[in-house]
Amino acid sequence: MKTVVITGSAKGFGYAMLKLFYEKDFNVVIVDVDEKSLNAAKKELESLNLKGKILTYKVDITNENEVSKMIEDIIKNNKTIDIWINNAGVNQPSIPIWCLDSKVINRLIDIDLKGTILCSKLIMPIMLKQNSGQIYNVEGYGSNDATMMGLSIYGTSKRAVTYFTEALAKEVSGVSKNIYIGKITPGIMITNFIGNDVSNNRIELSEKTKNVYNILGDRPETIAKFMVDRIVNNNKNNVKFAWLTNRRAMGRFIKALFGKKNNFFE
Ligand SMILES: NC(=O)c1ccc[n+]([C@@H]2O[C@H](COP(=O)([O-])OP(=O)(O)OC[C@H]3O[C@@H](n4cnc5c(N)ncnc54)[C@H](O)[C@@H]3O)[C@@H](O)[C@H]2O)c1
Repeated sequence: MKTVVITGSAKGFGYAMLKLFYEKDFNVVIVDVDEKSLNAAKKELESLNLKGKILTYKVDITNENEVSKMIEDIIKNNKTIDIWINNAGVNQPSIPIWCLDSKVINRLIDIDLKGTILCSKLIMPIMLKQNSGQIYNVEGYGSNDATMMGLSIYGTSKRAVTYFTEALAKEVSGVSKNIYIGKITPGIMITNFIGNDVSNNRIELSEKTKNVYNILGDRPETIAKFMVDRIVNNNKNNVKFAWLTNRRAMGRFIKALFGKKNNFFE
């Protein structure tokens, strides 16, 4: 039975993907700093009574010691780690760069960028030893070079995650044909992330932003299904799985002209 590890999988997009893997009889590993959600996620998965093993770790992905120990323990329990998804991520307060507290900037980069680099670095020796495995990194606003007021540091991190993932794929291609690296581009999801920043303070969404989310946004379960189907069937390195393509976005705006859009904020 294969094992999938998803960071930040106690809720939101990470949990939605993990649940689908569990339903496909994978062993699943929930990794998160949010203990309450971690326990709730475990309980919900257990209630499904399926074949896979469920492991949970209250681990901060920025902490090398915690991540290393967790990897060791997963291997002890499950023998292999077949899929690793760097999904844990946080949002920033919607204010200009010069108004941001330095601690907030550092913590966001530590999680969104350095956490992805650290986990990839620590899981690669396992994948090389197995001579198999897949690593996916979750992109976000800024990955495609877009800029916007209030998303400067988040966008900087995600732009760098994109470069890092491509660089990792290139390095891996030189040493193994059985390890696949990829980017997951989810678009806009209605999760805790859109209304809360890295310090757990509320982000007030303007009516204009809510309208855009109602047109372009989706529940994380919808996008998770699209991604998990592609991940389980993937046999290529350096892939990109994107949900909100220009074509899909255009279609949504056209539908909105005829009043067809979601109402997530009622
Ligand atoms: N929601 C969106 O619109 C959107 C759009 C594009 C990309 N993304 C990306 O998708 C990913 C998942 O976001 P989401 O929307 O499900 O958000 P979410 O807040 O619902 O889930 C993120 C999870 O990561 C966990 N986490 C945060 N810091 C952590 C740390 N240091 N160690 C371990 N776990 C940690 C949180 O506790 C949370 O459970 C993120 O990388 C985010 O940047 C989100």
